Amino acid sequence: MQLQDILYSQGFGTRRVCAGLVQQGWVSVRESSSGTQGYEPCTDAAAELEPEGLILRVQGVDWPYHAKAYVLLHKPAGTECSQKPSTYPSIYTLLPPPLRQRPTKSAVQGVQAVGRLDQDTTGLLLLSDDGQFIHRMSSPKKHVAKVYQVTTKHPVDGGQIAKLLAGVVLDDDPKPVRAAACEQVESHRLALTLTEGKYHQVKRMLAAVGNRVEGLHRSRIGAMELPSDLAPGAWKWLNHDELDLLAQSN
Ligand code: URA
Repeated sequence: MQLQDILYSQGFGTRRVCAGLVQQGWVSVRESSSGTQGYEPCTDAAAELEPEGLILRVQGVDWPYHAKAYVLLHKPAGTECSQKPSTYPSIYTLLPPPLRQRPTKSAVQGVQAVGRLDQDTTGLLLLSDDGQFIHRMSSPKKHVAKVYQVTTKHPVDGGQIAKLLAGVVLDDDPKPVRAAACEQVESHRLALTLTEGKYHQVKRMLAAVGNRVEGLHRSRIGAMELPSDLAPGAWKWLNHDELDLLAQSN
């Protein structure tokens, strides 16, 4: 694959911009086959390279080639999951421009969030440019478990837990929704597992049992935990093992 096409596929701009980056000396490459740790400057935009295992260095920033992007973001409070937020900054501003500009076959460019979290909810959010992966992880039919750490206004009691497990009716839907698991962590803390993702579901479920959500944090999707060393606002690539873990989740 030509270097300019590799850069284009990774979201570094139009083919013309990518060719310009190379010709102006902004790009070095480290090929997995080279056997050395060093980066080689490359000013030939049409140079043929094997993309798998390639690490690009573009304007001083290292960028490992990924045919598809799968990333995990620790969503901080006070951010919206929309591309066009109404009040708070968009989570997409926390990602580097290439992740937001990757060319896709669909109408929208770049990685997309797998479902949405409310602006005040924190925790694990997956993003990808792989439509099938997004569908697999977010479709209600696939029943991928999502675990929420819920801080409540009032103490939680056994009756509330029993109702959450048995199923509660939310205002707009006669079909009851139930928690797949519900564990009391402290008097005002629950770990709630859901396999669907209705609008404001946790908040509405807690309201339906006479309590109120004061804090909401998603700690797990399927078999994947939010890494404890990933600070709020930080993101990371998912590696093969983590993708395998997620694939086992449905
Ligand atoms: N349920 C909610 O109420 N809010 C979220 O952000 C996620 C689940």
